[in-house]
Amino acid sequence: MHEEVRHPCVQHKLALIRDEDTGYKKFRELATEITMFVCYEALKSVRVKEVTVQTPVAEAACHKIAEELVVVPILRAGVGMLEGILDLLPTARVGFVGMYRDEVTKEPVAYYQKLPEQTKGGLCIVIDPMLATGGSTAAAIELLKEHGAANIVVVCIVTCPEGIKTVEDAHPDVKIYTASIDEKLNERKYIVPGLGDAGDRLFGTR
Ligand code: PRP
Ligand code: URA
Repeated sequence: MHEEVRHPCVQHKLALIRDEDTGYKKFRELATEITMFVCYEALKSVRVKEVTVQTPVAEAACHKIAEELVVVPILRAGVGMLEGILDLLPTARVGFVGMYRDEVTKEPVAYYQKLPEQTKGGLCIVIDPMLATGGSTAAAIELLKEHGAANIVVVCIVTCPEGIKTVEDAHPDVKIYTASIDEKLNERKYIVPGLGDAGDRLFGTR
């Protein structure tokens, strides 16, 4: 399952973040803002518990999030979404998965992992701005499942049909939320039109 967040506020920011003239400072700010919107949508059916709150006037029947939340950025570009998601979910735990795409094979290479024990039993939110071939995200989900995760959603900024298919075929239980489903991958396995290399644009490395 997947969902594209078509809200005009998200689409407006997407237009700005795609622009090749957007520098890394503005790119980072936009990544933070878009992440908050997409994550907000991704959590619309999160499990809640009833609580009673004393207002200055009376008791109010309220709801609080009942899940242990574990945010998992895929290094490196996923870090660019961390601030936005923690603004929305300040008490979430954070686990890291280090993954890069081999320049030649385009296959993901895992090089780091540090996950909290709540990965098992909690709601894991995998974040990476780009879901291109889907290899990195599918491998990160696999790793989380090896650590006992059974409740996983993916939040990205841009994806494409090929990437969605790869992740959904491998992990039909995982829902993907994105700001855009773009047209396709090019011969270098970059998303078209996409926004280029997200890691480089976030961190000013090129
Ligand atoms: C990018 C991106 C994803 C991956 C997407 O990372 O942030 O992790 O590529 O591609 P895929 O869906 O085809 O696997 P990259 O390998 O460039 O590493 P970086 O984040 O360290 O720049
Ligand atoms: N990684 C990126 O950063 N961008 C793409 O379009 C594909 C992979």
